[in-house]
Amino acid sequence: MVYSRESRIKDVLKSPVGHDVIAKLLMQAGKSMALVENPIVGNIKLKSLPKLSRGLVDDSFVDLLASLFNSVPDTPQPYDGPIQRAWWKEAVVYQIYPRSFQDSNGDGIGDLNGITQRLDYLKELGVDVLWLSPIYDSPNDDNGYDIRDYKAIMKEFGTMEDFNRLLDGVHARGMKLIMDLVINHTSDEHAWFKEALQNPDSPCRDYYLFRPAKDGKTPPNNWTSFFSGSAWNHYPEQSFWALHLFSKKQMDLNWDNPALRSSVYEMINWWLQKGIDGFRLDVINYISKAEGLPDGNETVGKLMGFTGVEHYFYGPNLHRCLQEMHENTFSRYDVMTVGETPGVGIEMAKLLTDERRKELDMVFSFDHLENPGKARFDLYRYDLRCLKEILCDWQQHYGNASWNSLFFENHDNPRMVSKINPDPAFREVIAKLLAVIQFTLKGTPFVFQGQELGMVNASFSSIDELRDIESINLYHELLQKGKSEAEALTIINGGSRDHARTPMQWSGEPNAGFTAGEPWIRPNASYPAINAESEQQDAQSVFAFYKQVIALRHQNPALVYGEFALEPTPRELFCYRRVLDGAEFYIEINLTEQPQKRKAKASAYTPVLSNYTKPLEMLRPYEATIYRI
Ligand code: NOJ
Ligand code: CA
Repeated sequence: MVYSRESRIKDVLKSPVGHDVIAKLLMQAGKSMALVENPIVGNIKLKSLPKLSRGLVDDSFVDLLASLFNSVPDTPQPYDGPIQRAWWKEAVVYQIYPRSFQDSNGDGIGDLNGITQRLDYLKELGVDVLWLSPIYDSPNDDNGYDIRDYKAIMKEFGTMEDFNRLLDGVHARGMKLIMDLVINHTSDEHAWFKEALQNPDSPCRDYYLFRPAKDGKTPPNNWTSFFSGSAWNHYPEQSFWALHLFSKKQMDLNWDNPALRSSVYEMINWWLQKGIDGFRLDVINYISKAEGLPDGNETVGKLMGFTGVEHYFYGPNLHRCLQEMHENTFSRYDVMTVGETPGVGIEMAKLLTDERRKELDMVFSFDHLENPGKARFDLYRYDLRCLKEILCDWQQHYGNASWNSLFFENHDNPRMVSKINPDPAFREVIAKLLAVIQFTLKGTPFVFQGQELGMVNASFSSIDELRDIESINLYHELLQKGKSEAEALTIINGGSRDHARTPMQWSGEPNAGFTAGEPWIRPNASYPAINAESEQQDAQSVFAFYKQVIALRHQNPALVYGEFALEPTPRELFCYRRVLDGAEFYIEINLTEQPQKRKAKASAYTPVLSNYTKPLEMLRPYEATIYRI
């Protein structure tokens, strides 16, 4: 189907891009899909949108939508078969942010030997796979997400020998290790970029996105960077500009160049040859950019907070690149892949992960991390009732040809417990509630370091305490826009990525047992009360609960492969069953701080694990229980 101004909404919803873009735009506006799913709205033609929206969107917006819907014509294909079993579907993954995990030599920076020292802890917890955020050589403009040399280890983190020892230690314990793969961009200090700048005739010149100024002066287009300002750097001596979607030192690669693609595959195979077990692929859906790098639509820019995204969040060659990469690399090894795909919704994710298409095993979609109409830096209380709606959609409609990822935290987001309810009285029950959800749904759970302790957000009292480039740039942008220092800091405290990057809380010793030196970022003041050492000794701790729920999942394939059946309940409750070959679990959750009426039925079941000691007549605040039927 070819889309145009004449297309009707109901037809547009049949296109994966159409469905997900409309869902995303509605969500940004705080509205639900129900708005477009009714027959009257379904019959509206795209060309009527400018009038109906009273000028909020114009004709160019409508044309842009139509061209986006046409850009990727594939649609998810039906699949009636069973779920194919795989080790990575049964695995529990644990994300390590190496800089903040464990320092072994007193320089205040976490390192590879520190991780090796803590492998027994991870084994005790029950995790199967470790994912390391980037450990490659890097000038650290974005803590390693700016890679200078893909085949070398960052000096502060150790040596290649240290890495080999870590990998052996992981394998010796029956665990696996996956690496972060950052191939949308490199550091501007990477040999390819330096060569490209020095020698305009070098083949490396076309590894990046160099463009002349638009009118002899201004950047080639109006795209903005995720880390504030224009997405273009000017190189006056070359009279050229180069694209960077992230920091000024993270230069976007040109995936339309076959030589660049081969160089990347060669590097991937070099690591796979070393025996690692897979990759998490950084912003992998951004690699293909629209031909000609056209200006971004201002309306979309305002809605999304960044201009230009529509031209690369799901580019025209994305699927082709992923299939080629899979064929040349991953398909040759027994490894897992998970793509980080901001902005990708359920229908696009189906295409990216359909096992018959051979692209990626799983993706991280982010729709569930904020409530509708909210963005990360907004100050609000996260409402779990909205989480239920999104998770149910994926559980019920993702299908058996694709496999899901399950996560609430990572190094780019504040701690989930704090977002839901910062009252310390509820910290443990909420942390356990989230674990119940994460380990009883269909998909592979990813735990972020410290999540298993119920770690909470920091309280930054000055910008000097922050280290993240995104927070620092945003702070200065806010000041420029007229905010006071206090106002700017309040916003930064709402959404800073540094909340997740304070040191892992190992013990009540100075600096949380993270380092014997001066830590690169100040530990969260909560560490005397919230730390691994004390939680390991406490049978009621969040850590103990994680151990139990992970073990339960490992012992029960029904929790991995079982069918998901939602129980009809009021919005405040989230109740479902997981069923496989006669084994059945019932999960009952109160999503609110208020007591709720318990479903009478549950009393006939056997409780296996709960965040409260024993069931009462009413469900208590945030009560979450797993029953065996
Ligand atoms: C996503 C990573 O998770 C984030 O930490 C990083 O800043 C950007 N990609 C750029 O690599
Ligand atoms: Ca160190």
